[in-house]
Amino acid sequence: TKRAVVRGIGHYLPERVVPNAYFEDSLETSDEWIRSRTGIERRHFAAEGETTSHMATHAARAALADGGLEPGDLDAVIVATSTPDLTFPSAATMVQEALGMTHGFAFDLQAVCAGFVYALANANALIVSGQAERVLVIGAETFSKILDFEDRATCVLFGDGAGAVVIEGATGEGTSDDRGILATDLNSDGRHREILYVDGGVSTQTTGHLRMQGKEVFRHAVDKLARTAHTSLERAGLEPGEVDWIVPHQANLRIIKATASKMGLGMDKVVVTVQDHGNTSAASIPLALSVGCADGKIKRGDVVVTEAIGGGLAWGSVVLRW
Ligand code: ACO
Repeated sequence: TKRAVVRGIGHYLPERVVPNAYFEDSLETSDEWIRSRTGIERRHFAAEGETTSHMATHAARAALADGGLEPGDLDAVIVATSTPDLTFPSAATMVQEALGMTHGFAFDLQAVCAGFVYALANANALIVSGQAERVLVIGAETFSKILDFEDRATCVLFGDGAGAVVIEGATGEGTSDDRGILATDLNSDGRHREILYVDGGVSTQTTGHLRMQGKEVFRHAVDKLARTAHTSLERAGLEPGEVDWIVPHQANLRIIKATASKMGLGMDKVVVTVQDHGNTSAASIPLALSVGCADGKIKRGDVVVTEAIGGGLAWGSVVLRW
């Protein structure tokens, strides 16, 4: 059978680093409050005019270079984002153009913080079904543009950035060994819309800001994340004890810790970047994967579980052997 195997990975972060102390000037908050409740210490914010497709293109180039590939080697580009440059065309076709790719196909996928997991699962399906050989999967966001900077309960939590992976089909012994995407699990439940949403959009002719009931999101997150990770592992025929790395969506250190604990795994098995990036929504997992590889943590052959939840609610997980 055909497997989708990771060929290259890379990321991009905007130059501007915003420490927690930045918010102390305009809001009744503190570095201490933000750190202790979320684990976040700093985040990156895009420069004026620096868009999602710009960041996505930087991350894409890094992933292609890591895999020793040229844009011409790709069949498809998927950008997971809730903050595209324009209503249309897709950020993915902008990346395609920026890379000089004039063949193949490109599209955006919107599943908020679960976007990268959704995109990876869909790219896997394209490869396994023979519709594409090599797919560039990007998570890229400029959440700084949809934050209400007067709402201390949300604006301190998010950051901007992009991460990208190239996955490709591999078949037969000797080529794929047992690497690749082993199992996926996707879920959504639209009844929970009001606990995490943007109060504006195209068909309402408004821009809108991110609104969140933090405690409610927290309550759903731990339970649903542990459950989806368990489902994917079961489908892959693996036990939690065989997991080398959990690479969770980086929303909040307390959610990350509680989920690992519910899976029966210690924090030594978890890649954590939330302290440096904040919550970058669909970009957080590919960013964490890329940093985890660059740090020498994630190595070829490791069993990696990615899991995420976000607005919708939408949640899911992907288990792969790196
Ligand atoms: N600084 C100081 N005080 C604050 C801040 C802040 N930045 N934000 C909120 N507070 C205050 C609140 O106003 C409230 O004050 P009050 O009691 O006077 O009304 C108090 O702190 C407690 O507020 P809660 O919202 O109950 O605080 P809680 O301990 O639940 O922490 C938090 C808030 C960190 C958002 C938490 O609910 C959480 O982590 N939720 C998960 C949500 C999340 O991570 N979402 C990310 C998007 S979804 C996703 O990616 C999974």
